[in-house]
Amino acid sequence: MLMAVRKPLFTPWGVEGEIDYDRIIKEFGLEIISDELLSKLSKLAKGLHPLLERKVFFTHRDLPWLLSKIASGEKFFLYTGRGPSEKTHLGHLIPWIVTKWFQEKFKAPLIFQFTDDEKFLFKQDLSLDKVKSLALDNALDVIALGFDEKLTFFLFDTMHADLLYPQALRIAKKVTFNTVKAVFGLNQSSNIGQIFFTSMQAVPAFLPSVILGKNIPCLIPMGLDQDPHFRIARDVLPRLGFYKPACMHSRMLKGLTGSAKMSASKSPNDVLFLDDSLQVAERKIKNAFTGGRETAAVQRSKGGRPEICSIFNYFQYFFASDEELSIIESECRKGLRLCGDCKKQLIEKVLKFLEQHQKAKERAREKLERFFFSSECLRKVLS
Ligand code: TRP
Repeated sequence: MLMAVRKPLFTPWGVEGEIDYDRIIKEFGLEIISDELLSKLSKLAKGLHPLLERKVFFTHRDLPWLLSKIASGEKFFLYTGRGPSEKTHLGHLIPWIVTKWFQEKFKAPLIFQFTDDEKFLFKQDLSLDKVKSLALDNALDVIALGFDEKLTFFLFDTMHADLLYPQALRIAKKVTFNTVKAVFGLNQSSNIGQIFFTSMQAVPAFLPSVILGKNIPCLIPMGLDQDPHFRIARDVLPRLGFYKPACMHSRMLKGLTGSAKMSASKSPNDVLFLDDSLQVAERKIKNAFTGGRETAAVQRSKGGRPEICSIFNYFQYFFASDEELSIIESECRKGLRLCGDCKKQLIEKVLKFLEQHQKAKERAREKLERFFFSSECLRKVLS
């Protein structure tokens, strides 16, 4: 089941070129989130988030099982995380926004893991001090989004090692080097921390079950690139007597320069950082890759191509109501609207969002410690 024949096509640490979603679904063995499943969720939650409705979250593992647990009144918890290799950018928010929606709808606790260890091990140029301070900075962005402080539990891998390490050992003992080579494309010259790392990312998926002394269902919303970790975790956990976590995957946000996954390692102009000044954000959007044509005249006669446009991608994922989105799309395809119109509209929305976020982040500083993991508080909300 965990065998891969060639170099894996998509791993947490390398997304190259175009993303062939259909092929990934097949090779990873993912289930599509069907309309029927969405309507079940919508009944339980009394509504759907646009990121779910628009199929930005598009695949899952065991979601029907999780929904049946919710329907029967069983408590569950959410788990997601962040590898602090840089400042937070808009692409990172997709799973967080949906996670927050689940938290609000179901009053579910959330474990949020900051894998500073991971980024130290995988990024040559990052020191331990740097990843630790990035983790704290990224945590402020998470708080600024408005997660419930009573229901949200931050785990920082190096700070909470006493809690995580013994559980990670249990995973590590059941994962072979062959498996991590096949699943992640690691090899003979990978450093030994990298080989161990996936066992740290598995821990929050069952830590509450350890703390409560009984199995508690877990739902993990994530970017698709994180699935390989949970393929391994889902393979190992039943062998330790725990539930497999349910998973939901989002598509990756396109980069502003036209890359398939927004990433600052390609170019700072590819991403919108949440800390970007309003002037910088405006400049990046003005220079963004669009689905426009060579000249305005050609665009007016042929129409634009929203499907390849990074600006349209932003409207779709964050910044347009259903109504706005359908107007933007049809005007674009008909050649009635040019890229400048879209950029102007997006800039307005993005600047408003950034301004509000940056203020909320300032206020987040004083709340930070209230979000740190506490077994006692977790036990209370889950029992
Ligand atoms: N490895 C993830 C990253 O690089 C961070 C992470 C840890 C995570 N645990 C997670 C992401 C659970 C999604 C779900 O960003």
